[in-house]
Amino acid sequence: MTHDFEARAAELLDAGAHGYFAGGAGDELTLRDNEASWGRVALTPRVLVDVAHRDTSVTLLGRERAHPFLVAPTAYQLEAHQDGETGTARAAAATGSIMVLSSQTTTDPREVAAAVGTADRWFQLYVYRDRGLSHDLVAAAREGGYEALVITVDFPFGGRRERTERSGFTLSHPPFVDGLAGPLSLAERHAMHDPTLTWDDIAAFGEASGLPVVLKGILHPADAARAVDAGVAGIVVSNHGGRQLDTVLSGADALGPVVEAVDGRIDVLVDGGIRRGWDAAKALALGADAVLVGRPVLWGLACEGAAGAQQALEQLVEEFDETLGLLGCPRARDLDGSYVTRRPS
Ligand SMILES: Cc1cc2nc3c(=O)[nH]c(=O)nc-3n(C[C@H](O)[C@H](O)[C@H](O)COP(=O)(O)O)c2cc1C
Repeated sequence: MTHDFEARAAELLDAGAHGYFAGGAGDELTLRDNEASWGRVALTPRVLVDVAHRDTSVTLLGRERAHPFLVAPTAYQLEAHQDGETGTARAAAATGSIMVLSSQTTTDPREVAAAVGTADRWFQLYVYRDRGLSHDLVAAAREGGYEALVITVDFPFGGRRERTERSGFTLSHPPFVDGLAGPLSLAERHAMHDPTLTWDDIAAFGEASGLPVVLKGILHPADAARAVDAGVAGIVVSNHGGRQLDTVLSGADALGPVVEAVDGRIDVLVDGGIRRGWDAAKALALGADAVLVGRPVLWGLACEGAAGAQQALEQLVEEFDETLGLLGCPRARDLDGSYVTRRPS
C-alpha cells in the first residue's frame, strides 16, 4: 500500500535523504495543503449506470494513453535506492505510465532510455546560468528518444528548505549534469539555476530540442493564457510539491481557473498531493488531461526499488479504475464538473 511505503521509507532512508525527499519549503503549509486540498473536493456519484467495463484511457499530446498517470520528475533517485532512475523508468514502462526524467538525474538520460526500449518518456529541463549545461541536457534527451521537453518554470532559485538546511544533507551520487563540478551543497546546486529566465527564452529551447514543450509550475490563469500564446503543447499546474514558496495555492485549488483560461487549447496536467486513484479522478473532473505523481513513486522505489515503484503506480491505476466504476462514470474521458462538488468549509 502506498501509505505503508511512505512509513517504511521514513525508517529505511537516512534522516538527511528522507528529509530531502519528504520536505517542503518554509513551514510546509503548502506541502500539507497539497494533500488536504484534494480532500476538499467531494465526488458526487451517479447510480444505475452499467459499469461492468471501464475505460481509463486519456489523450495526451495527441496520443492515446492507457491511463492518466505520469511519473513526476524527481531529482537524485540513486539517493533513494540503487535502482535509481532506471528502476523508476522500468516501473513506468511496466505500467504504461510516462516517465518524466529530471534534469537532476543521477543516471545518464541515454542509459535510462536504453533500459526501457520504446516506452514513453519525457524529459524535464532546468535552465541553468550556464546555458551550455541545459543545451547538453537537451542533446542527451534527443539522443535518448525523449518525446517531450518539460521546462520547469517555478525554480529561478531554490525555495527555503529548512529540513535540508538543518540536516546538512549532501549527495553521495553525483548528478549527471554537474557531476564534474565537484562536491556542492544543495544550496550551491540550486544557485546554478538561471533566475533571468523569461517567456522570451522558451521558444528557443523548443526549437533546439525539436520536441513539444510543456511548461511545469504554472498556478496563475494569466500565465496559463500566456503559455497558450507562447505556443507550448501543455502546462503542468504545480507548486513543485510544496518545495518552493510556502503558502502558495495547491494544484487542486489552482486547476479550475487555469482550465478556464486555457479553454481546451492546450493540454493541462496537474500535480501535488495526488495519493489515491480518486484524487486523479477529481483532477480530471476539474478539467485536467492527466496527473503527475512524485513522492508515492519515490517511497515505492526507496522500499523495494523498481518493484516498489511499479506497485505504487499499479495501485493508483487500479484505484482510478475502481473510482470510475463506483462513480458511475465508466469512461475517464467523460469525467466532468458534474462529478465533483466543493465541500462546504
Ligand atoms: C524529492 C523531490 C525532487 C524533485 N525534483 C524535481 C526536479 O528535479 N524537477 C522538477 O521539475 N520537479 C521536481 N520535483 C517536483 C515534482 O516534479 C512534483 O511537482 C511534485 O513532487 C508533485 O507533488 P507530490 O510529490 O506531492 O506528488 C521534485 C519533488 C520532490 C519531492
